Amino acid sequence: RIIDASKKIQENSDYLIVIGIGGSYLGARAVIEALTNNFSNIMTKQERNLPKIIFAGNSISSTYLFELTDFLKDKDFSINVISKSGSTFETAVAFRVLKSFCEEKYGEDATSRIIVTTDAESGLLKILSDKAGYETFCVPDDIGGRFSVLTAVGLFPIMCAGIDTDAILLGANDGLEEYTKKSLDNISLKYAIIRNAMFKDENKEIEYLVAHEFKLSYLQEWWKQLFAESEGKNGKGLYVESAIFTRDLHSFGQMIQDGNKITFETIIEVENLKNDIIIPYIDEDFDNLNYLAKKSLNDINKVAVTATRKAHTDGNVPTVRIKIPKLDAYNIGKLIYFFEMSCAISAYMLEVNPFDQPGVDNYKKNMYQLLKKM
Ligand code: PA5
Repeated sequence: RIIDASKKIQENSDYLIVIGIGGSYLGARAVIEALTNNFSNIMTKQERNLPKIIFAGNSISSTYLFELTDFLKDKDFSINVISKSGSTFETAVAFRVLKSFCEEKYGEDATSRIIVTTDAESGLLKILSDKAGYETFCVPDDIGGRFSVLTAVGLFPIMCAGIDTDAILLGANDGLEEYTKKSLDNISLKYAIIRNAMFKDENKEIEYLVAHEFKLSYLQEWWKQLFAESEGKNGKGLYVESAIFTRDLHSFGQMIQDGNKITFETIIEVENLKNDIIIPYIDEDFDNLNYLAKKSLNDINKVAVTATRKAHTDGNVPTVRIKIPKLDAYNIGKLIYFFEMSCAISAYMLEVNPFDQPGVDNYKKNMYQLLKKM
């Protein structure tokens, strides 16, 4: 059903609006941004040949929703609303607005343009879907939001974006075999042990996930949510941050190198990148860069990785390296499984439950009380 529904979206929609927050959108966004063109945002449908996935419902910004509905006026779009509980405030408000907008534009046809991903049995979205006849996919009962990217929550939008979900699942399945081994060769276990040792023995309070590709910035967001919401409990947990190098070396790189020594870095290194640029030779050598002529920009980036790692290690900022052979669907699937497994082990080592998030409820309670008084 996921395959059929995604084919239909690819045929009848220029845009798929994914409405969800936290674990209900970050995984899909991480994979889609990692595996699509940096400029797909500004490409036309003809250039992309596939629908563009737009995310909504992850804030309460009226500006965002106003500009989104204004933009969609003359475009063909469908909606995938994702909420395990079926009642998350931000998602519900955005869905209410976009559902009405879709119905105004498409009339009765709106029903076939709304796809709901929610609990199989209960919740407000489930009740509405049964009544309205929307296509629904389920969030498995025993899988929490931030661990759900390899279910319909992530797979459906990822498939609509034209990404090979079979390869993602194959990578994840190989990850399952490799990262559940009870052996110290298991790098997922090693990573969990290193994080805990940094925290407990080396007084490192902040872990930076570093990447050298802008495409990985939403993978970093997904990773931050995964670890922060799973480990940040009972006054415990490494504070998780992210950086894109070399961009951020020119901002808080100074702090990492020379400031308070409470950080360590985990670097994602992609060994073989698909596209490369060769530095041109220029006769007048106005910038004195001819010594790099005919060299590969990818190789130069790798030198930057080594140089930075050496400088930071010398400055008492330890680095962990995670190498992935290629930035493709298979390796992203395997990396997701790697982090999910490490996160669960790491949280249990801290003696906290990785799979709940009691702290998130506090702001919600305050908000409901205040909203009722409005
Ligand atoms: O990881 C989690 O469990 C959370 O981040 C949820 O995904 C988030 O709160 C959204 O919840 P729901 O899918 O119920 O709308």
